[in-house]
Amino acid sequence: MRYFFSLILSVILAAPLWGQKSADVEPIPVVQLKRKEPVLFDDIVPILRNKCFACHSANVTKGELDLSSYASIVKGGKRGSAIKPGKSAESLLVQLAGKTARPFMPPKREPPLTPTELALLKLWIDQGARPPQSQQAKIAQTPLSSSVRLVRALALTSERTIAAFGNQIHLFDNKTGSLQRSLVDPSVVDTNQRPLGVAHFGLIEALAISPDRKLLASGSFQEALLWDLQTGKVLHKWTGFADRAVALAFSNDGKFLAVGGGIPTADAELVFFDVATGQRVKAFPRIHSDTICGLCFTADNRFLITASADMSVKILDVSTGKVVKKLDGHTHHVVDVGVQADGAIIASAGTDKKVRLWDFKTGEQLTRINRGGGQVTIMAVDREQPACQVRFVGNSNKIIVGGGSEPVTLWELQRIDKASNYYTPYIQPRRLRAFEIGKDYIYAVAATADGKFVAAGGEEGVVRLFDGEKGQLLHTLAPPKLPVIKR
Ligand code: HEC
Repeated sequence: MRYFFSLILSVILAAPLWGQKSADVEPIPVVQLKRKEPVLFDDIVPILRNKCFACHSANVTKGELDLSSYASIVKGGKRGSAIKPGKSAESLLVQLAGKTARPFMPPKREPPLTPTELALLKLWIDQGARPPQSQQAKIAQTPLSSSVRLVRALALTSERTIAAFGNQIHLFDNKTGSLQRSLVDPSVVDTNQRPLGVAHFGLIEALAISPDRKLLASGSFQEALLWDLQTGKVLHKWTGFADRAVALAFSNDGKFLAVGGGIPTADAELVFFDVATGQRVKAFPRIHSDTICGLCFTADNRFLITASADMSVKILDVSTGKVVKKLDGHTHHVVDVGVQADGAIIASAGTDKKVRLWDFKTGEQLTRINRGGGQVTIMAVDREQPACQVRFVGNSNKIIVGGGSEPVTLWELQRIDKASNYYTPYIQPRRLRAFEIGKDYIYAVAATADGKFVAAGGEEGVVRLFDGEKGQLLHTLAPPKLPVIKR
């Protein structure tokens, strides 16, 4: 009898749960905000970014809805506009995210909006849904002036040099130094809808060439593009990044592109895209507390090494998303990172004017034994100027280093296999060559895998292409004059 009652009781208690898992049905409580100042678009972006962007931004637009810009929110998805300015109760965004109408957003397992977040969204809509007017929006509305030609990024093959000048990308023949082609995104237009004839709206921060040399990725403010180098066409345009896409790396099998960036001093962003389909495959939130400036994969693609303005380098296990090592030692932003093909050594470049060398396995900074005895000093390539880029030259044990007004230098990391009773591998960096850069201030360097070509560019807006073996200057590459576009 007792058992019977308890059975009935549990059926009654369970009744409201039928048809829908309990946590999902409760509408999010309505709270009143005590807020005097108007709600700006910028106030609600962080909410959407945290709780909705995973499925409604960049290449993932579930329900055909992109929540990453004001225009796309107004445009809405397959059910129509996501908002009705002035009428929050009739706005799809509030209905679904407030769980008063289906399909509830975000779906099941994702963290729902807090009552305060929902209240802020409602207030924004009820106040008329102000469009963006932030600094970022202003940056995004004004194209980079065509007089800005500084070189932040370079990619080099044996045949050609690919360089970003301001917001333009140009390809040059290494033999003749002549311009081969310019990459133009026709969707970058001015306020009169006229194409600007450039690759990005804003400054290009990063370039990466695919392992088969057929594709190029470029990163700029809140977007990254994938280009077909054969046709010059845009294959994918990824948007909705929190800030600039500063670091790009293809996996060594060419399947994935990792895009790194984030909001300076606030948060890091790291997203993986499938190169063939353009799909966003995964994101690794909050692995650094500041912008990610450099990325590289180990040869087996198991690990991604990340360099950040938070002064650390991390080794990320790509399959688990776990940081397996944190390399501490830089005393300022770490802006680039490279790994030796055999995976033994990591080299990182910092604005602390040092290129530091690390043992991949132990995560320790490589050490040098002083001649006098067993005393150990930290191994680094010391510079007068910030080190902006460091790259291993192909599969060799050489690194190319550039940055600031110092010449670009080539180093050999000599492994000295003496029977040492000291711990870490005994590596001696030996300076092989210097490449003269005139009065330029260098941001970007690159070397071909065989070391035959070296290129450097920076503030001056030209790229110097060198014979990597002899050190002599082959060509000084400059962007063509673009048609002047009146604004
Ligand atoms: C885990 C993925 C995911 C997350 C996170 C997510 N959504 Fe969705 N969203 C979907 C899917 C899937 C659909 C399509 C559902 C359907 O049509 O039945 C959708 C549809 C929508 C629609 C309807 C679009 C239309 O016109 O049909 C709105 C509005 C919406 N989501 C808002 C949000 C908001 C606001 C958030 C954040 C609070 C959010 N979503 C978070 C997956 C997600």
